[in-house]
Amino acid sequence: MIEEMKKPVPADKLVRVTFLPQGRTVEFEFGAMPYEHHGRPMSFLDVAQNHDIFLDHACGGACACTTCHLWLREGAAGVSEPDDDELDRLDMAADLQLNSRLGCQAIITRPGNYVVEIPKWNRNYVSEGKPLTLAEPGS
Ligand code: FES
Repeated sequence: MIEEMKKPVPADKLVRVTFLPQGRTVEFEFGAMPYEHHGRPMSFLDVAQNHDIFLDHACGGACACTTCHLWLREGAAGVSEPDDDELDRLDMAADLQLNSRLGCQAIITRPGNYVVEIPKWNRNYVSEGKPLTLAEPGS
C-alpha cells in the first residue's frame, strides 16, 4: 500500500489541538478538515472525530446533554463565544469551571494552538477511538 505524502501545513494556517489528559496533539490545516457530522463544524468534537480521539457525545452533538464537556486550557481567543443554549446546558454539567465548554459547540475560528482537557469523570472512557472495556469480575 502506498501512503500519500502529507504536505507540510503553512505555519499561518496550522491548527494544533492537544487533548488532555492523553496529551495527544493533532495538527491540520485551518479550513481543510472534513466535517464528521457530530457537533458543529470545526468544534472540538469534530476535531476529535476526525482524529479517532474518543470524546463522548451522547446526544450526537445537538447541545442536548453534557457528555462532551471539556475545559478549554489554552486558545480561548480563537474559540467561538458560547451562545445561550450552550450556557444553559453547561449549567447542568458536573465540575463546571469558568473555562468549561461543550465540545460539540465550541468552534475553532482561526489557526493557532489549543489545549482542552476532558474532565476526570470522563477520563476512564478515554482511549483512541473507543471507550475502555472493563473486565467482568472472575473473568
Ligand atoms: S454531545 Fe451532547 S451536548 Fe455536546
